[in-house]
Amino acid sequence: MIITIDGPAGAGKSTVAKRLARFLSEQTGKSFEYLDTGSMYRAVALFGLRRQMDWQMPGKVTALAESAVIDVVNGRTLLNGEDVTEAVRQPEVTEKSRFAADNPSVRQMMVALQRKIADRILAGHQCLVTEGRDQGTAVFPHAACRIFLTATPEERAKRRLGELQQQGRTDEFQEILQQITDRDNRDAARTVGPLREPEGAFRLVSDGMTIDEVVAEIAAHCRSVSASLTATGLSER
Ligand code: C5P
Repeated sequence: MIITIDGPAGAGKSTVAKRLARFLSEQTGKSFEYLDTGSMYRAVALFGLRRQMDWQMPGKVTALAESAVIDVVNGRTLLNGEDVTEAVRQPEVTEKSRFAADNPSVRQMMVALQRKIADRILAGHQCLVTEGRDQGTAVFPHAACRIFLTATPEERAKRRLGELQQQGRTDEFQEILQQITDRDNRDAARTVGPLREPEGAFRLVSDGMTIDEVVAEIAAHCRSVSASLTATGLSER
């Protein structure tokens, strides 16, 4: 079974996807793997930063991605065999990752890689929870369970402000809100793989909900989808 979770930046997709995979593994006795597809674009960006990439040259960004060996194994992101799961979270990587994500050739490579990873996971009789912007629309449009997880820009800005305050920072709410709105607009305007709500997706607006509540709602939805597929004899994907 494949569960896709798409939604805008800051909606809590990574945390929810990770916890959902763990929760469903415990509940069902099947093994659910988690795939963070944003980390793959981030890995290209990290590689570029290390190579002093000229980001204004899309052909060079494509060549860079072609020369990188990226993989995600057991929730860890690998770049040329090095575990970069933490390194890709750096702010300068966040900033440059759009040059990878906006590049159609790089997207094509990452989509192929995501499908290959999914095939490997399913072949091992495991299930997959994958999250990103285009998972239920472009990459796995036939996934059994497609989720659109969102929250209002104000709610996402409030959460981000809380995280930054915990790190001792004193950022302005309005500035964070503007960054979030800019990122939403960029994600939606992308010519290839833009952020869209997948048709027939289970839509959840997480304003005012705890992570546990979100995970429980999505898990209940996926279990009912799975049960109805089994009852009708349709195969799960
Ligand atoms: O979600 P995260 O911030 O890690 O994503 C990193 C970058 O990759 C962002 O620019 C995001 O828009 C992009 N992305 C994408 N498609 C995905 C996942 C992330 O374009 N499936």
